[in-house]
Amino acid sequence: MSLIRKSAKFSPAFLIIAAVIGAGIAYGDGEEKHDQSDKQSSEADNSSVVRSELESLMNSLDSAYILISITYENVKPIFENSCYDCHSSKTKYPWYYNIPIIQGLIDDDIKVARDHVDMDTGFPFGGHASQTEHLREIREEIGNGDMPLWSYRLMHSGVKIEGATQDTIYKWIDESIASIAKVYDNYGFPAPSGVNDGGHDNNER
Ligand code: HEC
Repeated sequence: MSLIRKSAKFSPAFLIIAAVIGAGIAYGDGEEKHDQSDKQSSEADNSSVVRSELESLMNSLDSAYILISITYENVKPIFENSCYDCHSSKTKYPWYYNIPIIQGLIDDDIKVARDHVDMDTGFPFGGHASQTEHLREIREEIGNGDMPLWSYRLMHSGVKIEGATQDTIYKWIDESIASIAKVYDNYGFPAPSGVNDGGHDNNER
């Protein structure tokens, strides 16, 4: 399966392209002067142009995602150390997981965390948001100190992402977002959400 299918199904570019295809077909239906074969062939021309544009956009995005998934390997140890206990299936359970009430709380955290961002198979991340939104949110959550959760930080030392480690993550995120944005830009599509809607966080650099 191509990487794109998992992550791009709600991207604005899809909706725009779907709308363009839809409008093309609707417009074609309104043209009564053409005979049937003309109409069919012009519809086919329009939608095949749009379709091949779409296909090459998809391929470019696929390539961008593959490159990011490769550079992800450099930052993966940081995520493994600070995030994977909740945002993946690779949880290292603490001894107090045996306490029934605590077990429920930890299980809930993991479930909710993975619904939001699932890092289990690396990049592209699982979850409801687009990849640029995921990246932007990860940057924000780290920047404002919300992630990893404070309750988790109480019991785990060395998991807060700060200093040079934070710079490394920010650099990876910024370059990744820029590489995705560039693909949209090359095709004349508006930037996907997550590209430009950051900046309301004082800790961001
Ligand atoms: C102790 C478990 C735990 C750890 C460790 C943890 N998270 Fe989370 N994370 C959660 C939970 C629970 C949620 C969903 C509820 C919330 O936003 O508080 C969440 C949500 C998120 C979200 C989505 C926020 C939103 O507003 O949708 C992001 C992004 C995120 N985490 C990033 C990270 C990153 C990056 C790390 C590692 C630096 C990390 N988390 C470590 C439990 C955790």
